[in-house]
Amino acid sequence: MKKVMAIVLAAGQGKRMKSKLYKVLHPVGGKPMVGHVVDIVKEAASERTVVIVGHGADMVKAHFGEAVEYALQEQQLGTGHAVRQAEELLGQEEGTTIVICGDTPLVQVSTIEAMLKLHADRGAAATVLSASFDNPAGYGRVIRGEDGAVQRIVEHKDCSPEEAAVKEINTGTYCFDNRKLFDALGKVTNGNAQGEYYLTDVIGIFKEAGEVIQGYCTDDVAEAIGVNDRVALAEAERFMKERINRQHLLNGVTIIDPAATYIEAGVQIGSDTVIYPGTILRSGTVIGSDCIIGPQADIANSSVADGATIAHSVVAGSVIGEESSVGPYANLRPGTKLGKGCKVGDFVELKNATLDDGSKVSHLSYIGDAKIGKDVNFGCGAITVNYDGYNKFITEIGDNAFIGSNANLIAPVTIGDGAYVVAGTTVTQDVPAGDLAIARERQVNKPGYADKIRARAKAKKERTQ
Ligand code: UD1
Ligand code: CA
Repeated sequence: MKKVMAIVLAAGQGKRMKSKLYKVLHPVGGKPMVGHVVDIVKEAASERTVVIVGHGADMVKAHFGEAVEYALQEQQLGTGHAVRQAEELLGQEEGTTIVICGDTPLVQVSTIEAMLKLHADRGAAATVLSASFDNPAGYGRVIRGEDGAVQRIVEHKDCSPEEAAVKEINTGTYCFDNRKLFDALGKVTNGNAQGEYYLTDVIGIFKEAGEVIQGYCTDDVAEAIGVNDRVALAEAERFMKERINRQHLLNGVTIIDPAATYIEAGVQIGSDTVIYPGTILRSGTVIGSDCIIGPQADIANSSVADGATIAHSVVAGSVIGEESSVGPYANLRPGTKLGKGCKVGDFVELKNATLDDGSKVSHLSYIGDAKIGKDVNFGCGAITVNYDGYNKFITEIGDNAFIGSNANLIAPVTIGDGAYVVAGTTVTQDVPAGDLAIARERQVNKPGYADKIRARAKAKKERTQ
C-alpha cells in the first residue's frame, strides 16, 4: 500500500461557538474534538500527521506535544489555504493524504479505511466522504454529473437554487493523491461568496483535468457532523455517548439506563459490571468486573478493582481495591488508595490516604495525608487533623488499631498496631502498639440534678417574659 499521511485542519477560531476556548479543543466524550480526529487518522494508518494550527496554536501544540507535526496558518484564508501550509512538510511525498477537519470527531476509523481502499482500487485523485442530509443547510453540496460521477463541491453560500436543493453534502473528509493535491491547490482562487481559498475547489480542478474522483457516501449521520456551534456540540456529545455506551454493552457491561449514563472516551470496564443511572465515568478510569457503580457515581482518573461497589460518591485520582465499598456520599480525593475489602461509608472524605485491606471508615470522617494499616476501625466522626494553616502532616496507624468515635488525631502522629484510642480522645502524642489512649474529662453524675436544672431554667425564662 502507498504511504498514508494526514492533514488535520485546526486553525479556525470557531466564532459560532461564542467561546474563549478554541473550537477544536472543545471536548466531546471528555476529549478535545481534534484529539479524536488525530487518533482516528493515526489508527487508520497515517504515518505522518500534520495539524494545521492558527488560532489557539499554543494550546493545540500543548495538547499533542511531539505526537504530530505542525504547520502554522497565520491568517485564516480558507480551508484550501490551510492545507497549503502543509506543503513545506509534505509536498515532496508520494502517497495518499487524508484531509480531515478538526471539528468532525465522529468519523469512524473503519470508514476512512474503506475510503482508502476505494481510493486505491479506483486509482482516484480524490475520494470525498459524503452523506445525505434532509436539511443540508450550511454544508457544501456534492454535485454529480448525469453519469453519477462527482464533478465539484459547491459551498452553501455559493449555491444556485438547484444546487441548494441537493441533499448530498461534503463531510469535509477526503483522501487525495498527495502530489496532485498540492498541484491543484496552487490553482485555487478566492473568487467566491466568502472570499476564501476553498479546499473544495480542488475537486472541480481535478474534474477539468480528467482525474478520477470518487464519492463515498456514509449512512451514519453522526460521521458527518461538523461542530460549528454549541447545538452541534451537544448533538455530537449525544452521538458519542451512544456510541461509547453501545461498545460497553456489547462488551458485557450492564448499563441500566444508557441515556442517563455518561462514559468518556478511553474508559475501560470489565464484564458483568452494572452501571446505575446518573453515573459519570471520566477519562483515565478503569473499572474491573462484577462491580456495582452508581447510582450517581462521578469517577475520574481512578482504578476500581473487581467486585467493588461505589454509590452516590465522587472519586478522583484514586485506587479502589477488590470488593471494597464506597458510599453513599463519600468524597475520595486524589491519592486515596483502598486495599481489598475496605469500607468507606457515608459522609467520609479521604485525601492522600492509604487504607490497607479490611479497614473501615464507616461514617462522618475526614482522613487526609494518612497511612492506615489492615483491619483498622475508624469510628464515626473520627478525623485526622493534618493541617495547621501552613503545613500538612502525616498520620500513621498500624494494623488492627481501633480509633473510637469523635477522636481527633493531631498529626504528625503514629498509632501502633492493635492500639486503642477511646472515643472523644484528642491524640497529641504517639500511641505505642497495644496501648490504650484516653484524653477526656472523667464523668461525674449528680443524682436528681436534672429536675433541679430544669426548674432553674424555667424560672429564668418566666422572669424575662
Ligand atoms: C467545510 C467545507 C464544506 C463542508 C464542511 C463539513 C470548505 C470550503 N467547506 O465548511 O464543504 O460541508 O466543512 O463540515 O472546505 N480551518 C482552518 N483554516 C481556515 C479555515 C478553516 O484551519 O482558514 C479549519 C477549521 O478550524 C475547521 C475546518 O477547517 O476545523 C473547517 O472549517 P469550517 O470553517 O468549519 O468550514 P465549514 O464552513 O464548516
Ligand atoms: Ca465546519
